[in-house]
Amino acid sequence: EMSPEERAFQERIDRGEKIEPTDWMPDGYRKTLIRQIGQHAHSEIVGQLPEGNWITRAPTLERKAILLAKVQDEAGHGLYLYCAAETLGVSRDELIELLHAGKMKYSSIFNYPTLNWADIGAVGWLVDGAAIMNQVPLQRTSFGPYSRAMIRICKEESFHQRQGFDIMMKMAKGTEAQRRMAQDALNRFWYPSLMMFGPSDKDSVHSAQSMAWKIKINTNDELRQKFVDQTVPQAEYLGLSIPDEHLTWNEDKGGFDFSEPDWSEFFEVLKGNGPCNRERMDARVKAWEDGAWVRDGLMAHADKRAAARQA
Ligand code: 3HC
Repeated sequence: EMSPEERAFQERIDRGEKIEPTDWMPDGYRKTLIRQIGQHAHSEIVGQLPEGNWITRAPTLERKAILLAKVQDEAGHGLYLYCAAETLGVSRDELIELLHAGKMKYSSIFNYPTLNWADIGAVGWLVDGAAIMNQVPLQRTSFGPYSRAMIRICKEESFHQRQGFDIMMKMAKGTEAQRRMAQDALNRFWYPSLMMFGPSDKDSVHSAQSMAWKIKINTNDELRQKFVDQTVPQAEYLGLSIPDEHLTWNEDKGGFDFSEPDWSEFFEVLKGNGPCNRERMDARVKAWEDGAWVRDGLMAHADKRAAARQA
């Protein structure tokens, strides 16, 4: 049974109003937003690692400059999202401590390795493609700061996806060895990209409440379906084949029927048993510890400046 405040809040949501940080909100709304926005931010920061691994190995100066720009964008996306989470009364340090303690998640996709340059193409094409599918609806999420962060982030995501697809075009239409690398990258990144949308709707613990609060605009399966329907023609254009022999067009539903990912693999990765979970966390903890002196110096400087202004 809803309290008067909760009913008034739900009526605001139903009217499509944006909720701002100083507005009254149910504890559950605040809690699930800190969870989702914090984990979204962690995904952006950890997501820099697979691509960062190839900045010094890019095949041309132009590809190096493009990849550098993309990875820098991801850092910025993380900072926008940590700022949005901080408006809910949690500090960035707390969120990062929870991540390092294994108490907060980041997107499962970043626990897969990028083994060669074709993987960088597949990541831009598929991973950023999936991220766009998920983030475009999130521009309409009911929490103001999250919605505004999404609007800014989505402006940069199309470049991320295009540059990845451009790499795939170059390789798919290159030498036979390059085409094989592109096909191998698609084979390894296809199912992990489908997992990015979350478990199937029947296994999604947060969807019902997140949809009621208009935090989530579409269900996990709806967005996964849209991603498949959009990506299959792109693979055909590249002359590459989707690694799913059950993939067929279903005229009745106006979309493709496709094989689900291996959900036991998904839940293993979430438990920390993916190919790169250990390596990713070690890299993030090291970066956090190695950077402590810079943060302490900046805070000391800021405190001195503030004290001088007071004096
Ligand atoms: N990786 C890791 N954890 C995942 C996951 C994934 N791909 N999919 C679901 N989960 C987790 C959920 O976080 C939840 O665990 P929790 O309670 O500990 O948080 C559990 O699995 C159950 O899933 P639900 O579907 O019930 O959870 P949600 O309603 O939160 O839906 C979501 C999951 C669709 C990922 C949603 O949280 C969301 O839209 N998040 C914001 C977008 C986001 O984070 N996208 C991944 C981004 S990658 C990225 O943006 C970088 C890009 O620039 C490449």
